[in-house]
Amino acid sequence: MSRFYRDSPDFWELEVIHEIPLYRPFVEKWAQVESFQARPDDLLISTYPKSGTTWISEIVDMIYNNGDEEKCKRDAIFNRVPFMEMSCPGLLSGTEQLDTVPSHRTHLPVQLLPVSFWEQDCKMIYLARNAKDVAVSYYHFYQMAKMHPDPGTWDEFLGKFMAGKVAYGSWYDHVKGWWEKKKAYRILYMFYEDMKKDPKREIEKVLQFLGKDLKEEVVNKILHHTSFQEMKKNPTANYEMMPTWAMDHSVSPFMRKGMSGDWKNYFTVAQNEIFDAHYKEQMKGSTFKCQMEI
Ligand code: A3P
Repeated sequence: MSRFYRDSPDFWELEVIHEIPLYRPFVEKWAQVESFQARPDDLLISTYPKSGTTWISEIVDMIYNNGDEEKCKRDAIFNRVPFMEMSCPGLLSGTEQLDTVPSHRTHLPVQLLPVSFWEQDCKMIYLARNAKDVAVSYYHFYQMAKMHPDPGTWDEFLGKFMAGKVAYGSWYDHVKGWWEKKKAYRILYMFYEDMKKDPKREIEKVLQFLGKDLKEEVVNKILHHTSFQEMKKNPTANYEMMPTWAMDHSVSPFMRKGMSGDWKNYFTVAQNEIFDAHYKEQMKGSTFKCQMEI
């Protein structure tokens, strides 16, 4: 059992989140999240942080709006596809926004998902990204997104990531938990690395999963609008609409590099060896496979 989830589905038990003062409002609104009533046609996007949540959310919003870029610029991505467990004083909480939108996103580990999503057999898209790139991206995010404590040095942060002592807990448990659940539920399990390799094929997978048929020219528009270069300069997608007290892009932009294999620029040979051995141990017995680079 991970540190993140001990013995009851109660957010107060999430000691990792609990240790982070600015996540406290998340905890206080947990009852609303837990009792959230999903509708059968709700779509849930689930990810471990820094796995491409914003990317897949933008793709889904473009699909729902039949490739109309202007409609997708109606608001910031965090309002168009709200975070279910999000809570920040002075702002609408995730659950308050959810009633008005068809798709939601979450970083919750599978065992904490509100039960109504399973009861309603909602469609869900899970997007995974390799652990090494997630750790690097998360390290930069911790520095720019002010709800997090100081991540310390890269080496210190990597240790915390491996131990699951970061917000949302263990990457290993997260990807494995959702991987197992897909056997019994309508979960499209995707990989960031596949999206980098062949984004059009992956967009088509999402279309098929959602039962949507769009013309080739519309698919190409979605492909263009959701490329890293386009999203990086789009204020409704790049989080520049977040107040700077919450996210400081001068420390590290939210749309940082958007590549696979950047971990090679950060991991020392020794760190890589320790990480690989720990990874093997953590993922033992799971059929989950993910490419560390493309
Ligand atoms: P990097 O920090 O490695 O650049 P999330 O949305 O889950 O927080 O994930 C953020 C990561 O996804 C960042 O990774 C960001 O650059 C990357 N990303 C966002 N949009 C992307 C896109 N269109 N193509 C590739 N990567 C993208």
